[in-house]
Amino acid sequence: MLSLLSTSLAQWLVALLAVGSLIPTTQAQYNIDTPDAIRNSARTLAYDMMLFYQGNKSGEIPGILPGPPTEHKGDYYWWEGGAMMGTYIDYWHFTGDPSYNHVITEGMLHQTGPNDDYMPPNHTASLGNDDQGFWGMSAMLAAENKFPNPPEDKPQWLALAQAVFNTQASPERHDETCGGGLRWQVPISNMGYNYKNTIANACFFNLGARLARYTRNETYSKWAEKTFDWLWDIGYIDHEEYRVYDGAHVEHDCTDINKAQFSYNAALLLHGAAFMYNYTDGAAKWRTRVDKLLEGLFRDFFPEGIAFEVPCEGRQGACTADMISFKGYVHRWLSVVTKLVPETSDRILKVLRTSAAAAARQCTGGDTGRRCGFYWSGGVYVDPAVDKTSGAGEAMSALAAVSSLLVTEVDPPATNTTGGISKGDPNAGSRSKDNPEPLAPITTADRAGAAILTFLMLAAIMGAWGWMSFGE
Ligand SMILES: *[C@@H]1O[C@H](CO)[C@@H](O)[C@H](O)[C@H]1NC(C)=O
Ligand SMILES: *[C@@H]1O[C@H](CO)[C@@H](O)[C@H](O)[C@H]1NC(C)=O
Ligand SMILES: *[C@@H]1O[C@H](CO)[C@@H](O)[C@H](O)[C@H]1NC(C)=O
Ligand SMILES: *[C@@H]1O[C@H](CO)[C@@H](O)[C@H](O)[C@H]1NC(C)=O
Ligand SMILES: *[C@@H]1O[C@H](CO)[C@@H](O)[C@H](O)[C@H]1NC(C)=O
Repeated sequence: MLSLLSTSLAQWLVALLAVGSLIPTTQAQYNIDTPDAIRNSARTLAYDMMLFYQGNKSGEIPGILPGPPTEHKGDYYWWEGGAMMGTYIDYWHFTGDPSYNHVITEGMLHQTGPNDDYMPPNHTASLGNDDQGFWGMSAMLAAENKFPNPPEDKPQWLALAQAVFNTQASPERHDETCGGGLRWQVPISNMGYNYKNTIANACFFNLGARLARYTRNETYSKWAEKTFDWLWDIGYIDHEEYRVYDGAHVEHDCTDINKAQFSYNAALLLHGAAFMYNYTDGAAKWRTRVDKLLEGLFRDFFPEGIAFEVPCEGRQGACTADMISFKGYVHRWLSVVTKLVPETSDRILKVLRTSAAAAARQCTGGDTGRRCGFYWSGGVYVDPAVDKTSGAGEAMSALAAVSSLLVTEVDPPATNTTGGISKGDPNAGSRSKDNPEPLAPITTADRAGAAILTFLMLAAIMGAWGWMSFGE
């Protein structure tokens, strides 16, 4: 009965879509057949994506997309603004169109926080190592792409990336639970502080690998090695199939692994491994990791050569606004791998083309007849409203997929010795504080809380003492 019903429903839907496709506005709007066509398509996609950004209007906050959802200000968390900045730093690199550079520079500099480390007090409540990491990676990308430098009296791209790295490498962020690794959240009081996850560590690994290649300072590569090894040893990366899992909790010694696979985890490790391969001038170990992660990524996330966000995409409404933006990063990161590990180029470009074509094909929605949705492999536009988003992540991913097809036309990521123009500061981030003193005066409730804590600590000590005495 159920299957009968769904069959007739499906037939009805197909009929409806067939009628829909007769309406001219559902005609494909974007051509990606030649580099010029790609540039034209990317220009329109970039224009449309910018319409979601309010940060350069008077009274609005530069650098962020409307949000955060926790304050009912929009669908997007702070980190996604950083990811958007990176998407436009690449847009400029790929197309040469500088139209948005001033908007991006302003946003990148506005969100650095008072210590120039991408830990702005306004976003402490959602400050994960990964959130900070996304901003840091966009700063790193600006250095690698030779994005125009900020004014001299402002922090420089490379120094910002180093600040993020240094705060994450500091002893404060590394404890012995689970034998190492970064926690998800930075402030102790944030929910998720007890979770050690792949994305937080993948961002740190990735920044380490890139800073090593850019500066040739091996402090960075040692951290990158160590972090990758930890992810491997703890079992977040499957040893046979190179599936990349989400994370686990410190109170279970990280053995309760949540096996959800998100595309950006695997792609970010692949991207970092490609930097390590290139930095080590072709080390066999990193080549194996690149090949296996690439194989796994294509196997798990590109059925029919089209990006598909496995853990949620099968069910409309199951992907969060965060997840809806992942395909774009995956495309951009894959495109860079073609530069760093040239032997992978043909294989990757082939997939990027089929996937970007699918992305572009479904951008036929809205008033303009060219808005983009999230369901690339379906071949038809699905309104982002089904996922309860305004559509910024959908637009950003399509822009990323189309513009990064131009990777064959541009320079590989620069380094200090191959034309890089960004000035670093190895000590950046040294003034940072993970758990700043609360600004509010201590209240009775806090005192009561502190008293309870003291009591519990005393009880624990006495308990341990009692247990030890008992043991003797
Ligand atoms: C914001 O940036 C866009 C894109 O560069 C530009 O078209 C628009 O005029 C800017 N708005 C303001 C208020 O500066
Ligand atoms: C912090 O948030 C407040 C309130 O939304 C806003 O007025 C201010 O501009 C923000 N500061 C920064 C640096 O983003
Ligand atoms: C590293 O990247 C450069 C720039 O794309 C490339 O020319 C070189 O062949 C790469 N090195 C290796 C070992 O593949
Ligand atoms: C490269 O790094 C060296 C050593 O840190 C530094 O002195 C030099 O200024 C850097 N070159 C560029 C182009 O940034
Ligand atoms: C290398 O990086 C480390 C970590 O940031 C720093 O302490 C050290 O000074 C750097 N070395 C050089 C030569 O820049």
